[in-house]
Amino acid sequence: MEGLIAVSVARLQKDDYSDEQRSAALGVIFGVDNQLVRDGTYLLAEVDGALVGCGAWSQRSNPFGCDNVPGKDDSLLNPAKDPVRMRGFFIHPDWSRRGIGSSILRECEARAMAAGYRRAELTSTLTGIALYLAHGYRIDSRYEIPMAGGIPLPVAPMSKSFSGT
Ligand SMILES: CC(C)(COP(=O)(O)OP(=O)(O)OC[C@H]1O[C@@H](n2cnc3c(N)ncnc32)[C@H](O)[C@@H]1OP(=O)(O)O)[C@@H](O)C(=O)NCCC(=O)NCCS
Repeated sequence: MEGLIAVSVARLQKDDYSDEQRSAALGVIFGVDNQLVRDGTYLLAEVDGALVGCGAWSQRSNPFGCDNVPGKDDSLLNPAKDPVRMRGFFIHPDWSRRGIGSSILRECEARAMAAGYRRAELTSTLTGIALYLAHGYRIDSRYEIPMAGGIPLPVAPMSKSFSGT
């Protein structure tokens, strides 16, 4: 998964973030959160046994980032009142724009709804916004995540109600 994420960031985000931004984010913001792997909520897409995409639905409060993201909060969400988090969507560049991100997102939403969640939230990269807009998410705000060396990473919190309201 780390290899997939590195190549996805290097090629698919190059028009949205500088080399400096991508290298500061890799391994801190962009990378594996093993809590989601242990929870069994990280979904993988394979073609002929090769990993081509990943994405998770998360029942943890933490909004984004890998194992070592500063301030990580792994407290459990309550489906009756909290939105589920969509996390860690990375597609291999050779397989982008073929509907793999969409199919992982739809499956994550179905599993979250089955677990009782009524809304979803996520923190999108600039690269991811078009995917989530295409699936009915709206942009709630925009801000910059401060990274090491004072390097900013512009992102957009987005959300969606599963009932469409
Ligand atoms: C964002 C990402 C996950 C999208 O995955 P994908 O498998 O290519 O997405 P899909 O093929 O399912 O795209 C579905 C729709 O989303 C929109 N979309 C997705 N990527 C787009 C892009 N680069 N430009 C414009 N629209 C885009 C389109 O409407 C697309 O439908 P279309 O191809 O029929 O026009 C992928 O580009 C990626 O891994 N990016 C790098 C990592 C990253 O920033 N991830 C987001 C983390 S929040």
